[in-house]
Amino acid sequence: MAAQSILVTGGAGYIGSHTVLQLLSGGYKAVVVDNLDNASAVALDRVKELAADAAKNLVFHRVDLRDKPALEKIFAQTKFDAVIHFAGLKAVGESVQKPLLYFNNNLTGTITLLEVMAAHGCKNLVFSSSATVYGWPKEVPCTEEFPLSAANPYGRTKLFIEEICRDVHRADSEWKIILLRYFNPVGAHPSGHIGEDPRGIPNNLMPYVQQVAVGRRPHLTVFGNDYKTKDGTGVRDYIHVVDLADGHIAALRKLSDPKIGCEVYNLGTGKGTSVLEMVTAFEKASGKKIPLVMAGRRPGDAEIVYASTEKAEKELNWKAKFGIEEMCRDQWNWASKNPYGYESQDGAK
Ligand code: NAD
Ligand code: UD1
Repeated sequence: MAAQSILVTGGAGYIGSHTVLQLLSGGYKAVVVDNLDNASAVALDRVKELAADAAKNLVFHRVDLRDKPALEKIFAQTKFDAVIHFAGLKAVGESVQKPLLYFNNNLTGTITLLEVMAAHGCKNLVFSSSATVYGWPKEVPCTEEFPLSAANPYGRTKLFIEEICRDVHRADSEWKIILLRYFNPVGAHPSGHIGEDPRGIPNNLMPYVQQVAVGRRPHLTVFGNDYKTKDGTGVRDYIHVVDLADGHIAALRKLSDPKIGCEVYNLGTGKGTSVLEMVTAFEKASGKKIPLVMAGRRPGDAEIVYASTEKAEKELNWKAKFGIEEMCRDQWNWASKNPYGYESQDGAK
């Protein structure tokens, strides 16, 4: 059977680059579209090094998704079997300051993509949604049927795109769409050659911890220690980015199921870990002390969020393999080899 060709939007980013590597290793061809607004081209060079012989199956276009003529050209060159759509802006705080930027980039980008896909007869899509759509869940674990809400413009773009996908499928049942709700992706490829490289001050816990460990920041601020949790700090479902990447391969396989319409799956581990437990695991993995400063709760934060993994296990035949020890080990391996992210090879940022 000929190798399937997959278009990966946002494929130079954190989750995208890990997924592209898994695609190449799994015998797929990958065409990446990324405007590099929040990524480095070095990530894809590293993916090629890791992919060895399969590197020839990777093509990169530096293109903004909203550039319809450029996207048309890419679809005219290759007949895609499916699209994995990661491209989007994801900083919650920035989305509150600049909502129109988020609506323009994430919504216009997605609508343009869907239009071009339809015009070229490619109606198979895997989309990156987020556990953020569960808001502050009334109970845990979160199942896919829980009520949805959004606490900020970023989250709203995820909700809107999910709804757009449901409508697109309702209007034309040829569309097969899988919405993946990620919990908290952390860690890096075990090689330490690719990983998360946020621009500016990290918003998320583990990139921040990592920067404290390499001496770029003096301490971690813990947002709230008065939650009703085991140690008072927020509880999340951290998932190794390689497990998450594999979840996309499972979703691609599911798209060949004739019965699939527009379906949603959680990608998490089903386990809740507190901020302090995560810090302790990282200290153990790195041998570094992470100084802490306790502070008030971050607006919009939920107390406890973790996934029900039943549906993905049953229907995608996918289950996360790694625990927090491996997540911290691989995060530290990446951080210690690349203390300034992809810029490390050219000197400090
Ligand atoms: P990332 O920022 O590393 O990757 C996103 C990529 O999209 C970047 O490389 C960026 O340059 C590109 N991009 C953005 N807008 C674009 C546009 N208009 N045209 C072309 N390229 C564009 O983020 P990530 O962590 O890899 O996340 C990937 C997806 O998963 C995003 O949609 C994000 O919202 C979603 N998600 C991420 C998390 C997380 O914690 N990382 C959690 C839930 C959902
Ligand atoms: C955050 C976003 C969410 C987004 C997700 C992935 C908010 C309110 N939520 O989720 O919309 O989908 O990232 O990008 O921003 N923490 C600290 N100190 C820090 C950073 C985080 O104590 O410097 C704590 C948080 O309070 C939380 C936990 O660590 O309890 C995880 O935080 P984070 O990594 O930002 O993920 P989420 O809050 O789950």
